[in-house]
Amino acid sequence: MQPSIFDDSLRTGFEVIDEQHRMFLDMLSELGEQIQAGHHRQGVLNAFQGMQAYADGHFTDEEATMAGYDYPDLADHRRQHDTFRRMTRDLGKRTGEGPGLLSLETLEYLGTWFVGHIRNDDQRFAAFAREHGPRA
Ligand SMILES: [Fe+2]
Ligand SMILES: [Fe+2]
Repeated sequence: MQPSIFDDSLRTGFEVIDEQHRMFLDMLSELGEQIQAGHHRQGVLNAFQGMQAYADGHFTDEEATMAGYDYPDLADHRRQHDTFRRMTRDLGKRTGEGPGLLSLETLEYLGTWFVGHIRNDDQRFAAFAREHGPRA
């Protein structure tokens, strides 16, 4: 499972955002490798929680950047972030309750969601930002 590795087609031109996207996708891949290698559940859970916290911090940073551009779609964009936040919170809770609940398929789903979100939504913001510039 390596479908979600960062590449240039995902760049938004915002260096901090791009770096966070790359880092998140790396964390996701690493987590997949841990699961494949049969790591102990607590280790997997810790890595999952680290990834979850990282995503949450990224979303918060991104939302602040968008606010700095008076981005009109910020509320809608934040709702999408909240969907991902909810998904990972639920997954983290269930993974903590029982073994074997965090599958490679689930990680692949998260990766596909994240990459799709970059392509469709983060890049739409980047295009807006390039056109309009930051708030004066
Ligand atoms: Fe993002
Ligand atoms: Fe986003």
